[in-house]
Amino acid sequence: MKKEDIGIFGEERIPKKEKYGKVDAVFETVAERYDLMNDLMSLGIHRLWKRYAVELLDLGKDQVVLDLASGTGDISKIIGASLPKGSHLFSCDPNFRMLSIGRDKGIDSGLIGGISHICARAESLPFADFSVDRGIIGFGLRNFTDIKSSLDELHRILDIGSRLVILEFSTVESPLLSKLYNLYSRNVIPTLGSIVAKDKASYQYLVDSIKNHPDQESIKKMMEEAGFGRIEYFNILSGIVTIHVGFRL
Ligand SMILES: C[S@@+](CC[C@H](N)C(=O)[O-])C[C@H]1O[C@@H](n2cnc3c(N)ncnc32)[C@H](O)[C@@H]1O
Repeated sequence: MKKEDIGIFGEERIPKKEKYGKVDAVFETVAERYDLMNDLMSLGIHRLWKRYAVELLDLGKDQVVLDLASGTGDISKIIGASLPKGSHLFSCDPNFRMLSIGRDKGIDSGLIGGISHICARAESLPFADFSVDRGIIGFGLRNFTDIKSSLDELHRILDIGSRLVILEFSTVESPLLSKLYNLYSRNVIPTLGSIVAKDKASYQYLVDSIKNHPDQESIKKMMEEAGFGRIEYFNILSGIVTIHVGFRL
């Protein structure tokens, strides 16, 4: 198999064309318990990370905003609650179950106008060239079948000078915190998954996918190669989570 045809699913090396189906099956299974598990695993802190990422989007009036890999809609809800006048938000995720939970949550919290839900994959986005002003991906990138072609797609649809924000688990820089974090993720997360979601394998995938995700500098380089510039990243908790911000050149 050629290098460019190999995908990584957790710890496994598989043909890229099989990765999407396997990832989709994970989210199909975890969808109902996804929000509860996020709160338990991060003690609710993921909500603050998401708020911070949305602040870095620097929303303004009359913008087209894309929440890619929107899942159950946490980030869309934050954006929707303060969507500036004339702006429109697209929540986009290929997993219909995750997307519909997000849509229902939005409706329950009064989010009705100014938002559309789209079922699509990052590697092939149904948007015209230069048609989007702000893009955000929260904890989605490491699940994509092909990060490089997804970043190329985002570069194609984003307007010149517009911003892309990527929130993702990353590489912990402090050796001590890294050891503690590894202990936590290896032991606690799969066990929680098995007790709360009755699904150890999906949460083992979560741990493995974080471990095998490219580090901060590699993501920055991939963004540069896709045509983004002025890229900065902000480590939270020494890089347990990182937010990359770049501008479409
Ligand atoms: C961990 S969830 C993140 C959901 C949400 N953004 C959040 O922060 O809570 C990852 C999402 O990525 C989506 N996903 C997986 N493969 C994808 C792809 N190729 N393109 C776009 N989204 C994808 C999944 O369906 C899932 O909803």
